[in-house]
Amino acid sequence: MPKTSNATLPRIVVDDVHKSFRLRHTHSIKETAMAAIKRKKLTSDFHALNGVSFEIGEGEAVALMGFNGSGKSTMLKMISGVISPDTGKVQTRGRVAGLIEVGAGFHPDLSGRENIFLNAAILGMSKKETEAAYESIVEFSEIEQFIDTEVKHYSSGMFLRLAFSVAIHTEQDVLLIDEILSVGDEPFQRKCIARIREMHAAGKTLVVVSHDLNMVADLCERGIVLRDGKVRFDGESHEAVAVMRE
Ligand SMILES: Nc1ncnc2c1ncn2[C@@H]1O[C@H](COP(=O)(O)OP(=O)(O)O)[C@@H](O)[C@H]1O
Ligand SMILES: [Mg+2]
Repeated sequence: MPKTSNATLPRIVVDDVHKSFRLRHTHSIKETAMAAIKRKKLTSDFHALNGVSFEIGEGEAVALMGFNGSGKSTMLKMISGVISPDTGKVQTRGRVAGLIEVGAGFHPDLSGRENIFLNAAILGMSKKETEAAYESIVEFSEIEQFIDTEVKHYSSGMFLRLAFSVAIHTEQDVLLIDEILSVGDEPFQRKCIARIREMHAAGKTLVVVSHDLNMVADLCERGIVLRDGKVRFDGESHEAVAVMRE
């Protein structure tokens, strides 16, 4: 059974989730042939998540922690519905917006303006709603000067600015944020963090991944540490940071 949080209604339920990836061990045709002759294994399965369970209640802010490769992004992608678990269940309630990969949900040949409409549509906003929010989205992003440029010429920081601005203007219940805040410059990061705090105060459910452990621990009251494909710790966020540093 997943660990139950003390909040009333769960927004996210992750129940005994397993996810493996197939790793290839050969590269060229010659190598593959040699390996076959020697009966060496060509692939192996890597268990990125190996029985992960937790429940996140409405209005909770959770820092998802773990070293590189510990499955944080994989977990966020499952919560956002981009990938599915091999076994186990991931359920969400309400509208989920994810800021997971730089440039995801953007089309390189379209302008910033056109991508705002595309991205907002993916997040469930109508054309009318997007039109009403458009000025405010551009204002928050501070990239008005480049809004008619094709986004293939954007830097990762500019992608973040647009993606974050669109996401905070949608009517979401759950916001998932992967490490992408780190590609923003310092003033913009501060602005994002201030906005995330406001959303938390307004009762949104948040799951945040960041290398800046002190920052996320201050932002979130709860921390979940993933290690070796399992939940190593689930509790108070500053204790989670201590577990990360032990
Ligand atoms: N599409 C994929 N194919 C193969 N391996 C993958 C894939 N996605 C993730 N992995 C592997 O799964 C593990 C967890 O990755 P990830 O969730 O990105 O970790 P984190 O975000 O915590 O750094 C890593 O070892 C990574 O190499
Ligand atoms: Mg990651």
